[in-house]
Amino acid sequence: MTGAVTNRTAPAVAEAERWTAHNYHPLPVVIAEAEGAWVTDVDGRRYLDCLAGYSALNFGHRHPALVAAAREQLDRVTLTSRAFLHDQFGPFCHELAQLCGKDMVLPMNTGAEAVETAIKVSRKWGYQVKGVPDGRATIVVAAGNFHGRTTTIVSFSTDPEARADFGPYTPGFRVVPYGDLDALAAAIDDTTVAVLLEPIQGEAGVLVPPAGYLTGVRALCTERGVLFVADEIQSGLGRTGDTFACDHEGVVPDMYVLGKALGGGIVPVSAVAAGADVLGVLRPGEHGSTFGGNPLACAVARAVIALLNTGEPQARAKEVGAHLHARLTDLVGHGLTAVRGRGLWAGIDIDPALMTGRAASERLMAGGVLAKDTHGSTLRLAPPLVVTVDEIDAAVDALTEVLKNGV
Ligand SMILES: Cc1ncc(COP(=O)(O)O)c(C=O)c1O
Repeated sequence: MTGAVTNRTAPAVAEAERWTAHNYHPLPVVIAEAEGAWVTDVDGRRYLDCLAGYSALNFGHRHPALVAAAREQLDRVTLTSRAFLHDQFGPFCHELAQLCGKDMVLPMNTGAEAVETAIKVSRKWGYQVKGVPDGRATIVVAAGNFHGRTTTIVSFSTDPEARADFGPYTPGFRVVPYGDLDALAAAIDDTTVAVLLEPIQGEAGVLVPPAGYLTGVRALCTERGVLFVADEIQSGLGRTGDTFACDHEGVVPDMYVLGKALGGGIVPVSAVAAGADVLGVLRPGEHGSTFGGNPLACAVARAVIALLNTGEPQARAKEVGAHLHARLTDLVGHGLTAVRGRGLWAGIDIDPALMTGRAASERLMAGGVLAKDTHGSTLRLAPPLVVTVDEIDAAVDALTEVLKNGV
């Protein structure tokens, strides 16, 4: 962090506070520029970004290949709507389907829209293919889930902050404890069309399920004729050291739900990918979005897919992530009570006797590191995958200082 010579931060924070709904509680930093793993605020202070837009910035800020793809597309065509085809659309769908090993994809914009898409497609598949009686479809989800903010999605949230006062709620969801295969088996019946899960629960605090859980979910879904829908919006596209978090158990879900990093930190791009037997149930007019699959989004996402096809981001996440976890594990018993995660993704529990997660993130910010608390005393660390071992060391050193000076 360099010394501040101006104070543009305070008025900028005040203006935002005054003119926006208070649906977030941001750290008081006002970012003006960014590159790679670093951001610079309006007063010229630099911070290591250890949140990476909740994994939307897996490839770092303004990755040159992604910015070049966006620039080139800006000079050609940016929006057509789905009423017409454009020359980036077919290649994007083809390349993403191949990355996922699936027959086809359906592009949308935000993560929540992709989850909504997965829900609609699963229900329609249930009625048309599985033969569930009309209006009876159920989807099993996990406690502690985070799949977005729409009215339907918050209907099956177990977080009172996300759900309270937003009813009446959409029916048709059953919630079971995350990681419990027996509970999942008991919740599935003839009306069940899908099991919708995060392979690692991000918002809940980077909760990794017990080994064998995803394999068990896959087997149960196959046995009972239910779609396994994996929400890889936060866990996917390199974050955990593989293309998908499901890859760690060699598990292939029936449907991937993708978002965040697919847009390269430049544009919102989300999608579901599945077999033709599943996505093939949709007919014209039944689902869509004006901006879904637009030329700019497709061009940037194609550049993202090309990066992932090199395997480099995944390899870096594995290698540098191993270093991050080794360093963090040394802090357990020294201010941390637990460390979880995989690859360049960690949930760390601060000893609540020392400070809250919010206080820790504020103090880290003062030390030049941006990270955000999730629940209570848990912080989520998810730096861009371009981060170096030295930068990880600097971030963990800053955390060590914060914990030492706790209380
Ligand atoms: C696993 C998961 N699903 C869905 C979403 C919602 O994505 P969006 O905020 O783009 O709607 C998120 C966002 O954090 C997420 O982590």
